[in-house]
Amino acid sequence: MKLCMIGTGYVGLVSGVCFADLGNDVICVDKNIDKINNLSNGKIPIYEPGLSELVIKNFKNKKLKFSTNLKKSVKESDIIFICVGTPTKKDGSSADLSQIFNVSKEISSSINKFKIIVTKSTVPVTTGDQIEKIFLKKNNRKNFAIISNPEFLREGEAIRDFIYPDRIVVGSNDKRSSRILKNLYSPLISKGASYLHTSRRAAELIKYASNSFLATKITFINEMANLCEKIGVNIEDISIGMGLDKRIGSRFLRAGPAYGGSCFPKDTKAITSTADKFKTNLSVVKSVIKSNENRSTLLLNRVYEILNKKIKNKTITFLGVTFKANTDDMRDSSSLKMIPALSKKGAKIKYFDPTGYKKEFSKIKNVFNSLSIKDSLQGSDLVIIHTEWNDFKSINFKSLYKGKKFIIYDMRNIYSPKKIKEQGFRYYSIG
Ligand code: UDX
Repeated sequence: MKLCMIGTGYVGLVSGVCFADLGNDVICVDKNIDKINNLSNGKIPIYEPGLSELVIKNFKNKKLKFSTNLKKSVKESDIIFICVGTPTKKDGSSADLSQIFNVSKEISSSINKFKIIVTKSTVPVTTGDQIEKIFLKKNNRKNFAIISNPEFLREGEAIRDFIYPDRIVVGSNDKRSSRILKNLYSPLISKGASYLHTSRRAAELIKYASNSFLATKITFINEMANLCEKIGVNIEDISIGMGLDKRIGSRFLRAGPAYGGSCFPKDTKAITSTADKFKTNLSVVKSVIKSNENRSTLLLNRVYEILNKKIKNKTITFLGVTFKANTDDMRDSSSLKMIPALSKKGAKIKYFDPTGYKKEFSKIKNVFNSLSIKDSLQGSDLVIIHTEWNDFKSINFKSLYKGKKFIIYDMRNIYSPKKIKEQGFRYYSIG
């Protein structure tokens, strides 16, 4: 099929490349000329394992093209995926849909035959209805169908999540286009992916409900970890014990720093704002947002306690600063709150991240990027394992320290407390 992805951010690029790899002809469109030129030269704007190889392969095979010309690309395609950003509005509440509506207007004036328009961007319930209204201003109802097909791709695992999804959700009020979409996804369905057809509004809500539920699960276990610290119980036992109950499941029950990234913080806020508009109080999700926002302060207080409230002139190492492993994404990472707060209290911060230097810390006093784990540990008083990169899972701390021994605060519970203590280090973990 001939597909057009509007927006070459995370969702558009990964989905576009994977669709091309399944044999479709895909044009990825973006208004950013530099981005399109770079992509055409095999330069990928994001860090995602496996993505670069797939882009180069499919570009060479001519299954994947890049363009800045939206109108021409839409005319040449059968299905148009809207994959532009829906950031949180400046007032911090609902989703900013200006990019969605702007591209909808452009697409609606470029239609030359029947087109299926699919929103892959995460959009609040009823956005599909609003897009339909935009299209009706310039087109006959028979010439288009607006469908919701949310993405559930995790950063760092996006290619795998696309090829082996748990489910594919297609929300459409139009039978013909639902059949076409099911056909597009048939290579994945035949490999075992569940396919769910719903109303358009239901599909829009499934995405928000899923992310809010996962955020709730993480926040729940984080709060349990707080309790475990007070009563001397290991949170890992609680996670395993709960997770073995099939009704609960073991995934997304790992206690750690506050959840971050481009989705959970944004989507939890957006769904409560939508619900408020419909006069429904999502009190659970509201309290999850609050608990998560307070979590960095809570962990910082723990750092102060570990260092006996003497932060000034202490050297603190962060191993990993991204919001999770296998991504270079810093959006809503808890390190963005913790590092400036520690610097303000007079600490010197050294950080090492496998994805390198982070401009986010360039203006923060006394924050230095180290080029290796070894370098980052030298002269450190406290080592904080912030992100669960594989690179940090089997460090031989004993062979790497020189002079004084540092304290280790493992915010991802990677290490066995017993083994680290046997090496003579003071070790703290979550819960
Ligand atoms: C998420 C959703 O999982 C994905 O389906 C959606 O489409 C996009 O948003 P992503 O933001 O890439 O994906 O990351 P995810 O792996 O879900 O982790 C989000 C945050 O939760 C991270 O900060 C991570 O460290 C944290 N987390 C996750 C935990 O603290 N504990 C866990 O057990 C799982």
